[in-house]
Amino acid sequence: MSSDNKKKLRSASWFGSNDKNGFMYRSWMKNQGIPDHHFDSRPVIGICNTWSELTPCNAHFRQIAERVKNGIREAGGIPVEFPVFSNGESNLRPTAMLTRNLAAMDTEEAIRGNPIDGVVLLVGCDKTTPALLMGAASCDLPTIVVTGGPMLNGKHHGQDVGSGTLVWRMHEEYKAGNVSLQEFMDAEASMSRSAGTCNTMGTASTMACMAESLGTSLPGNAAIPAVDSRRYVLAHLSGMRIVEMVHEDLTLSKVLTRDAFINAIRTNAAIGGSTNAVIHLKAIAGRIGVDLSLDDWHHGKGVPTIVNLQPSGQYLMEEFYYAGGLPVVLRRLGENGQLNKDALTVNGKAIWDNVKDSPCYNDDVIRPLDKPLVESGGICVLKGNLAPRGAVLKPSAASPHLMNHRGRAVVFESFDDYKARIADPDLDIDENCVMVMKNCGPKGYPGMAEVGNMGLPPKVLKKGIKDMVRISDARMSGTAFGTVVLHVAPEAMEFGPLAAVQNGDIIQLDAHNGVLHLEVSDQELAARLEKLKANRVIMRTGGYLEMYRERVLQADEGCDFDFLVGCRGAEVPAHSH
Ligand code: FES
Repeated sequence: MSSDNKKKLRSASWFGSNDKNGFMYRSWMKNQGIPDHHFDSRPVIGICNTWSELTPCNAHFRQIAERVKNGIREAGGIPVEFPVFSNGESNLRPTAMLTRNLAAMDTEEAIRGNPIDGVVLLVGCDKTTPALLMGAASCDLPTIVVTGGPMLNGKHHGQDVGSGTLVWRMHEEYKAGNVSLQEFMDAEASMSRSAGTCNTMGTASTMACMAESLGTSLPGNAAIPAVDSRRYVLAHLSGMRIVEMVHEDLTLSKVLTRDAFINAIRTNAAIGGSTNAVIHLKAIAGRIGVDLSLDDWHHGKGVPTIVNLQPSGQYLMEEFYYAGGLPVVLRRLGENGQLNKDALTVNGKAIWDNVKDSPCYNDDVIRPLDKPLVESGGICVLKGNLAPRGAVLKPSAASPHLMNHRGRAVVFESFDDYKARIADPDLDIDENCVMVMKNCGPKGYPGMAEVGNMGLPPKVLKKGIKDMVRISDARMSGTAFGTVVLHVAPEAMEFGPLAAVQNGDIIQLDAHNGVLHLEVSDQELAARLEKLKANRVIMRTGGYLEMYRERVLQADEGCDFDFLVGCRGAEVPAHSH
């Protein structure tokens, strides 16, 4: 079985010898009908698949995997498809983020422990993309990302409707009494009418754009609709390309450089991307050994938001694809001096070479630089005595008049407390107040649920008010909107200052200067926190949840487990049956 070519491959340590071990490894694989000569010199390509019918956004991945296999075979590789934990956003409780690190562990161990020379990551729903990139980054084999693509536009009452965004808006309208229950329910089937991921610039689309701007997928991957035949073509070409990448030893660490991460941060600003990208990019960077901090998000400052997609803008991913997709955005960033042009991508070319001639077919969907949706997009990083290690706010989803706001705190001790009291007509709150919610951070609401965009009190909504300043240690859905301060670190459960906020305290948000200030003296704040620490209750749940609570890092550190940060490579100890 051995040949000089095969000996160079990682899989040769399984299949390349003519002794007892080689016999055993090959023998079991042959029960799948793999002929003898395939083991001689062909790279083995793992297709790491997050297919699951419980992850509706990824439920079409078996078909995509078949196209990837066709490409791998055409290029002379052996495709082997394997499953990893699929954490779908829509069904999984309490939140898919709770199991992002679990899926990353699964991916890392599955890649390292198996006879794989290169990997194709089949991802789509929000957390699957960062999870698999994290796991693959800790192994550092040649790796290419294929996303499942967004759903077709939702169609409701003759209008285009976006995933998620419609939910938030309809719910607010329903609560305000402007929409009937029947209308509200009719919208469900209209919103999700084809295979694919959410079709707004929510977290799934954002992470697909992050993967492309990081250089980890072929140009154009992010926007092609799930059911468009060109998605299959891209899957086929990705299968062909991963075989070449193995021969070129183009490992993930050659692509995931600091320059690539800065490109992703600027891209996030240009697309009006999700705040969840802040956490995921940090976690991926931590796995590959790139130094990236919350402060690096200042690279997105001054980058105009030019993609006119919901929730910040008007259109959906289908229009984004027809307009030219992410290559147009990257070209415009490059023309604006906001792209690290030499960053290497998985097709072996610099990112600029991939995009510099990309035509735009609709300047209203992908705006020219001098006609942006938002002059200066990006993620605003806030610091101050209320968030010593930082918090984030998405200006393109916020109300300009609230970006500089001073108001009285109305405090909810938890999400349950918020749900119990928000509709209370006696709640002492008006539109100038600042809503504060505690204990929804990585440890407090394990997994840091997307509950930061608290709905407004009905009595405020009835006045026609659509937005208020809201502050929490939670995350928010990429499809949500509002002047919402998120990811406050340290979180309340870790006795960050957020834990000490009381009803009636005055809070100042100065987004323009990146300040989040609680008008309480240092001494008073310290005294309040000491009192809380004295009453600390240790929660013992057992199982994964308990490990999660003990080992998860804070939001500014990417919420990875402390023991998973870093690249451990693909080497496995010598093994013999
Ligand atoms: Fe899966 Fe939105 S719920 S992509």
